[in-house]
Amino acid sequence: MIRRTLVKKALNAKEPEDEIRIEGWVRTRRDAKAFSFVEINDGTSLANLQIIIDATLSDYETEIVKVTTGAAIRVHGKLTLSQGKNQGWEVIATAFEVIGQADASYPLQKKGHSLEFLREIAHLRPRSNLFGCVFRVRSRLAHAVHQFFQGRDFIYIHTPIITASDCEGAGEMFKVTTIDPAKPPLKDGQVDYGKDFFEKPSYLTVSGQLAAEVFACSMSNVYTFGPTFRAENSNTTRHASEFWMIEPEMAFCDLQEDMDVAETFVKYLIDDILKHCAADMTFFSKFVDKGLKDRLQWVLDRPFERVSYAEAIDILLQSGQTFEYPVDYGLNLQSEHERYLTEKHFKCPVTVYNYPKTIKPFYMRANDDGKTVAAMDVLVPGIGEIVGGSQREERLEVLEKHLEHHELSKEDYGWYLDLRRFGSVPHSGFGMGFERMLMFVTGVSNIRDVIPFARTPGNAEF
Ligand code: 4AD
Ligand code: MG
Repeated sequence: MIRRTLVKKALNAKEPEDEIRIEGWVRTRRDAKAFSFVEINDGTSLANLQIIIDATLSDYETEIVKVTTGAAIRVHGKLTLSQGKNQGWEVIATAFEVIGQADASYPLQKKGHSLEFLREIAHLRPRSNLFGCVFRVRSRLAHAVHQFFQGRDFIYIHTPIITASDCEGAGEMFKVTTIDPAKPPLKDGQVDYGKDFFEKPSYLTVSGQLAAEVFACSMSNVYTFGPTFRAENSNTTRHASEFWMIEPEMAFCDLQEDMDVAETFVKYLIDDILKHCAADMTFFSKFVDKGLKDRLQWVLDRPFERVSYAEAIDILLQSGQTFEYPVDYGLNLQSEHERYLTEKHFKCPVTVYNYPKTIKPFYMRANDDGKTVAAMDVLVPGIGEIVGGSQREERLEVLEKHLEHHELSKEDYGWYLDLRRFGSVPHSGFGMGFERMLMFVTGVSNIRDVIPFARTPGNAEF
């Protein structure tokens, strides 16, 4: 059998071909007197490929009725420029065969299903136009992430997924255990995790940062890019229980440079997707978010604003807006506050830095004012926080005080303290939520719709 040609390749052909083999799933079939017109898609491109099946082909009568929406077919034929006004490539079949039939209960019959319905058929939704676009862009975005860092001599580190430390200190960890909850080993009336698989309480990681710091303090510039898990019970459009995070960590790097890298990275990713996913991006701006391309171009063309947390609070207090959550020095910025800053006040991405130490994790570097830490968040319109990072505390005595203050044991973090004991250096890094970035570049407004199979509170279907 001759080699398969993907639909994308056929649609971008330079010249006609006498014999090609094409396979895919049927989107539509229209029968005329002497021909059937069949549109197929194999997921490699948004556009379908038109197949013309002549009614004189052998088995036409018995087989064409099985060429229904959702069926998988194989076609041998000639790739030619269509006679129609769009002048695209089409295939004149010399033979066709139904590989897998689909009956009338195939759920993607009609156009215009709701996103909620499509979530219920997450195993079939990649066959829809929207989700084809989302997952092609997701793939390209992951490629661009590696390209950005590899092109700058960052070393890719596979940090562990199972860990004993709670990096963010928010207590939102999923426990990993082989203990039978019906008959746990006990010690002094408590579950004895010393008898568990890892001989101590273990969890799915919320961040690869602490391990990335280890490698930055040996190998200079590193990054990790992998799944992270948070058991926070927030059912929002921007939170998932399992999401991917990109975490670069840079030795000999302060907060200023950290912010520079984060902002450059955001722009790089936007630029790459606009260049390499043009058809998919046009689909998003037409059907998902009309202002998308202009907004992304606007972001590319301007520097990000930078304000300290204290300045941000001042802006919010003076805004005259009523917010659902209170605004005050020392309180966390909520998504509505972040969105006000970036959408209404600055009308561009904003990097907020120097947050109060009371609302941030133990590892952030204390500023000289005694009140704030060298933290930064990048906020973008439509989403809010897309990146969170900081300069790390590199001074042993200060870090030991932080651990004490957060009631973390020096024994558990002995290896982390060692980095400050032997050749300690200023170092910084950040985490970008991969799905948040994907939402930002596609305009898709619910995180559940940019993840193949989303895990959220109460939902681990498929
Ligand atoms: O701000 P976060 O919690 O920062 C950290 O985890 C640091 N250890 C990163 C570092 O410095 N290496 O999370 C980083 C980013 C957020 O800005 C957000 O984009 C995303 O991860 N994020 C989530 N995305 C989806 N669902 C969730 N539940 C998320 N929580 C955080
Ligand atoms: Mg954060």
